[in-house]
Amino acid sequence: MKLNIAVLPGDGIGPEVVEQALNATIAVCEKYNHELTYKHALVGACAIDETGNPYPDATHELCMQSDAVLFGAIGSPKYDNDPSAKVRPEQGLLAMRKNLGLFANIRPVTTFPSLIHKSPLRSDLIEGADFMCIRELTGGLYFGRPQGRSEDGNTAYDTCVYSRYEIERIVRLAFEYAMKRRKKLTVVDKANILATSRMWREVAQEIAKDFPEVETEFLYVDNAAMRMIQWPKSFDVMVTENMFGDILTDEGSVITGSMGMLPSASVGTYTSVFEPIHGSYPQAAGKNIANPLATILSAAMMFEYAFNLKEEAELIRKAVAASMDANVVTEDIAGEGVKASSTKEVGQWIVEYIKAN
Ligand code: IPM
Ligand code: MN
Repeated sequence: MKLNIAVLPGDGIGPEVVEQALNATIAVCEKYNHELTYKHALVGACAIDETGNPYPDATHELCMQSDAVLFGAIGSPKYDNDPSAKVRPEQGLLAMRKNLGLFANIRPVTTFPSLIHKSPLRSDLIEGADFMCIRELTGGLYFGRPQGRSEDGNTAYDTCVYSRYEIERIVRLAFEYAMKRRKKLTVVDKANILATSRMWREVAQEIAKDFPEVETEFLYVDNAAMRMIQWPKSFDVMVTENMFGDILTDEGSVITGSMGMLPSASVGTYTSVFEPIHGSYPQAAGKNIANPLATILSAAMMFEYAFNLKEEAELIRKAVAASMDANVVTEDIAGEGVKASSTKEVGQWIVEYIKAN
């Protein structure tokens, strides 16, 4: 098969972790005789520095021409500490999501046996937890207008907007995922307060009629946040709006034991994007210590979702699990008495495993 991918490393640790994910991708393609072509492009703070635009046109064109996008992370302290900056790296990510029509962000939360000890939660609560958070990605507070400040500067406002169409397409997708899994869907909202949430609930109740086999439940977001750590095994598929999903998936990563473990896929109208859920971790940039596993697992999602190559995806997941069993892991997940490996060492180990298995 021909695989044509765009590689967008971004900022901070992005380039280091993407390099390892790309190496794993190359190794899998060699093994299965897939013809891989890839091109790099700029996004985020590095794109602002070079072109003034955090999502340059050339990057968008490359994404549109590719079959999948492998993405690292964006963000830089230079901008975080300057609230008056007119152009921000995050705008690049939002522009990419909007322009590629990436309305669904799929974030699986799974536990890894060798990492159970790293979770702040009791192991009997989390062992076997396995759910999928489907976050709406191109609407809500992130994109609603008006957004800004009053003229005197003393009032600020954001707007949460959802159309029926936007809710329908994501909720339907979530039901379809639930059908492929354990047939349970949790719709998370704040329908006791928000008008948008009431419409989410109304639309979800209508769509539920088309999926009688799926057990549908509705939870307020505050309650969902609590249940996620008290009883994570009660979830199968969860669907929610943009901001709630952003917050809940960071919470979900804690269950796993490290933010450095969770991959994601963003899918929608055009090319899909595969990226770790963690950020650019600028403190670790260039130090060769960042955990590349979330990005390598994102590459596995790419094989499965963008190319329907399940065996290839499975081999990457097996390699990741094996690296943890062999204690070839970065410092964030190295257990007591385990010597931490570098980003590159973990990546190389995984490539060797892929070649040998
Ligand atoms: C994420 C990130 C982004 C978001 C930031 C970097 C804009 O936190 O992908 O979850 O808030 O969506
Ligand atoms: Mn986030």
